[in-house]
Amino acid sequence: MQKNKSIVLGITGGIAAYKAAELVRLLVKANIDVQVVMTEAACQFITPVTMQALSGKPVFTGMWNASISNGMPHIELSRAADAIVIVPASADFIAKLVHGRADDLLSTLCLARDCPLLVAPAMNRQMWENPATQRNIAQLNADGISILGPDSGEQACGETGLGRMLEAEDLLYLIQAYFQPKLLKGKKILITAGATLEMIDPVRAITNLSSGKMGYAIAQAAYEMGAEVTLVSGASALKPPLGINTISATSADAMYQSVMQHVAKQDIFIGVAAVADYSPTITQAQKIKKSESSLTIELKPNKDILAQVASLPNAPFCVGFAAETENMLEYAEQKRLRKILPLIVANDTNAAMGSDQNSVTLLDKNGVHPLQRAPKIDIARLLLQHVSKML
Ligand code: C5P
Repeated sequence: MQKNKSIVLGITGGIAAYKAAELVRLLVKANIDVQVVMTEAACQFITPVTMQALSGKPVFTGMWNASISNGMPHIELSRAADAIVIVPASADFIAKLVHGRADDLLSTLCLARDCPLLVAPAMNRQMWENPATQRNIAQLNADGISILGPDSGEQACGETGLGRMLEAEDLLYLIQAYFQPKLLKGKKILITAGATLEMIDPVRAITNLSSGKMGYAIAQAAYEMGAEVTLVSGASALKPPLGINTISATSADAMYQSVMQHVAKQDIFIGVAAVADYSPTITQAQKIKKSESSLTIELKPNKDILAQVASLPNAPFCVGFAAETENMLEYAEQKRLRKILPLIVANDTNAAMGSDQNSVTLLDKNGVHPLQRAPKIDIARLLLQHVSKML
């Protein structure tokens, strides 16, 4: 188990400072220790009292804090942190970082740090596009500082364009990704996720209860570990994750086509999608009208995407999921051998479907490896650690 991370969250003066409050809440919930430091301008937008309540710690706003033992908060705070994250980073603060200025606590902390620095820019689109800002961003990149965003969209000033800060949940995702060991760096991974939708007529379909959460969590974990990720998603209400090439393919046949199109040069393939075993022989062009007599829909079997990928010459390392309601381990092992997979994940459908948690058992040629019930993202990270060892 990794030790909990600890960050200094620096807030500078911009309207996006309100999003820092939500981010602190999410970071604390994710067991990341947060020490907030605010510039004078940040305190014009959001109060230190709000940030103190959310982080559970006194907030630093100035250089001269008597409560720090050796009277040098700029050294002490940065030494205790795994990273400094500036949310939001104003155009002015970015310019200061470029020049190594140290005229307030936060800029001094950044200059005195011996840990990574991540900045989330937030500004008006013209300020962002200004060659001065672009030069500054290029310099930060060259200095090894990570830039999170910015996003494009509506801005507080009423204009629309690039420069608005990423949302708190996206920032959490990128901060967590930053801290994960890059076990899959340089690897390409293809993942299927979600339910398939087999159309009966233009408004009706055969589907199942898969939410896509497990497959999306594996895509996130793979991205965090440095892999190049392609996610072929069936029906799912989830938002396409940042940094991941997400392709929508709702029917089993569309999913098969999409996987075959992307499978060349992949190192790993993980079939997490709940692919329908059958689809209607004919999809009616018009809505089927109600009548008094019974209705029969003829179904034809779908191609098994995972089995087809596993039998390709130069097949990637293939991982399957076996969702079972009974005899879980026995059926999973039979499936692993039948589809010729190095690894399969046995999944109790009662524990998994739609839930944010899962309890699974990994089965490979060396035997069974049960994983404790945990959030799907934790299960995904453990699964990929196992895959990286097997690779
Ligand atoms: O045979 P069964 O459907 O139980 O196997 C489940 C595993 O096979 C999952 O990994 C699932 O994503 C994959 N699968 C597939 N194509 C199908 C059926 C299942 O890729 N048509």
